[in-house]
Amino acid sequence: MNYRHVYHAGNFADVFKHALLARVLVYLARKDALLRYLDTHAGAGMYRVTADEARRTGEWRGGAGLLIDAAPPDAVRDLLSPYIKAAGLASADARALYPGSPVQAQRLLRAQDRLVLCELHEADAKSLGKAIGRDRRVKALNMDGYMALNAFVPPPERRGLVLVDPPFEEPDEFPRLSTALAGAWAKWRTGTFMAWYPRKDLPAVGAFKASLVRDGLRRVLCLELDVEAPSEGPLAGSGLVVINPPHVLEEEARAILPFLTALMARGRGAAWRVDWLAGE
Ligand SMILES: C[S@@+](CC[C@H](N)C(=O)[O-])C[C@H]1O[C@@H](n2cnc3c(N)ncnc32)[C@H](O)[C@@H]1O
Repeated sequence: MNYRHVYHAGNFADVFKHALLARVLVYLARKDALLRYLDTHAGAGMYRVTADEARRTGEWRGGAGLLIDAAPPDAVRDLLSPYIKAAGLASADARALYPGSPVQAQRLLRAQDRLVLCELHEADAKSLGKAIGRDRRVKALNMDGYMALNAFVPPPERRGLVLVDPPFEEPDEFPRLSTALAGAWAKWRTGTFMAWYPRKDLPAVGAFKASLVRDGLRRVLCLELDVEAPSEGPLAGSGLVVINPPHVLEEEARAILPFLTALMARGRGAAWRVDWLAGE
């Protein structure tokens, strides 16, 4: 396990993923009924973007660092405001700290909701516990996220969201992810699942999407953002598949993604996409 998210925290792919994560959580939290959030690959929870590791890549500057100073049109600002708040991008610490998905979800969810956060790397799991602090809604576990997906789905509340955000260090991560999603969906057909993937090996991305369709999953929305033409080199694009997305997510993504793509574009080939892989 060599991957450390501190090198990448707040980069363009985090902004893309977390802005959409916030839209899904805000939508789910509109109904009073309690919900559960499961983060299978939670990371360390809070990242110091002034740390040596983060400065070495400078990735934060091309993502959250740009959004801090941006002036989105009003409609886009309204849609991004839960994310901007949850990520602390308008706070005094905005240029020093960037919270990961578990802390953002903790900030967006309500007193009645429950969060299960899994991180396999021991040191990051410890940091995650510290970042979360004392919060009776939250269980932070040092365990394998794919095992958690099997163990905690379906949740007793039968409402909620699973975020699957692996590091893609292993060559078989795509098939592992599609098998895990199909298995979890078979057990919880009404659950909302979001899974992140890198757009480097485009044939593998295509095979991943095709396998979700072949496995019979329904209501699968695919969202993508490239900051330049993807290649096997440094990450230039990423995507999210969202199974059972809120019905407003497609329209919201069509408003948010053009703005974020223009803001974070690094060169030729910057593009966004919103497609249904499978309908009802
Ligand atoms: C991309 S990062 C997660 C970022 C986080 N979801 C966010 O958005 O802030 C992936 C994390 O998964 C952890 N990890 C790797 N393999 C894992 C596994 N099998 N189960 C749980 N966590 C794992 C890594 O240590 C790393 O912290």
